[in-house]
Amino acid sequence: MSLFHPVKIGNVQLEGNLFLAPMAGYTDRVFRALCLEEGAYLAYTEMVSCEGLARDNEPTKDLAVRAKGEKNLAVQLFGPDEEVAARSVETVMKFNPQIIDFNCGCPVPKVTKTGAGSALMKTPGTIGRIVSVLKRETGLPVTVKIRTGWDTKSMNYLECAAQAFNAGADALCMHARTKSQLYMPTAHPEYLADLKKHFPEKVIIGSGDLFTAEDGVAMLEQTGVDAVSFARGAIGNPFIFRQTEALLTGKGPLEITTSQKVQTLLRQLEDLTAFMGENRACREMRKHVGFYLKGVPGSVHVKRMTCTAVTVQEYRTSLKILDY
Ligand SMILES: Cc1cc2nc3c(=O)[nH]c(=O)nc-3n(C[C@H](O)[C@H](O)[C@H](O)COP(=O)(O)O)c2cc1C
Repeated sequence: MSLFHPVKIGNVQLEGNLFLAPMAGYTDRVFRALCLEEGAYLAYTEMVSCEGLARDNEPTKDLAVRAKGEKNLAVQLFGPDEEVAARSVETVMKFNPQIIDFNCGCPVPKVTKTGAGSALMKTPGTIGRIVSVLKRETGLPVTVKIRTGWDTKSMNYLECAAQAFNAGADALCMHARTKSQLYMPTAHPEYLADLKKHFPEKVIIGSGDLFTAEDGVAMLEQTGVDAVSFARGAIGNPFIFRQTEALLTGKGPLEITTSQKVQTLLRQLEDLTAFMGENRACREMRKHVGFYLKGVPGSVHVKRMTCTAVTVQEYRTSLKILDY
């Protein structure tokens, strides 16, 4: 089979195996819509608190709203146990998701100290119980996101995966680092290969250090995972999905011009403005600018100017100094 292929997650048929990973503070509905238009086949929401959903908290619920044109809404939930997960179901179902993902990988102390995120890997049985509840109560395909373990002395991804699959998980995504490694040093794709070897019939999604289209191709080639999930590599570069597909389908490297980068940056800003208002959108967009313009001559000046910009017009004026 070609490395680029459709993937079925439960009853959800996806035409390709290039996904956008969940990223708190980044994979909002505007960015997901953009990535889906630019060739992602599935885009996960930011992590959404089960507790917040259960309390009907408005900002929490806002994270679970479908993006424009998003055929398959994949909401990532996080919480410490099956009781909290069960209480979140009624609210999350109001958003009519197609896939529920469960976060067992977040390393942030605020999350792990409650027993959620990667802390769940310390008690794999809990992962199984939560997956059972989510499957039963939502009736939807459930995917699970893990790391390789809490630290290098406790790499129990196989046990966590077994718990998730025995409880009915339809796919498993692994970020190939331990919790203690956070985002450095480099990820270990060999553990993804090991995971796939142990669960050859299951859908395994790979994550970790996918910064270029070539990285995506290499992970598919070297680990045998069914799909790859781009995270930091997609920030300021939603083109990475099409670029990867082009390589995988023999259409060669796809160069992105500065003009395309600028147009896409502005489109994201305008869509954010429609979503959250101009002032907030301009502030929110600042963290994306450097990623869009990485390596573009003159980008240092643009970054300096946009870090105080509060109108779309200021962004347009700043971007005009680029030669594109
Ligand atoms: C800013 C940021 C926010 C993230 N938020 C989440 C999240 O909400 N849920 C999750 O499962 N993983 C989250 N991740 C992890 C990514 O989904 C991904 O697994 C990780 O970044 C490894 O991929 P990369 O090395 O290609 O960036 C986040 C990563 C970053 C950089």
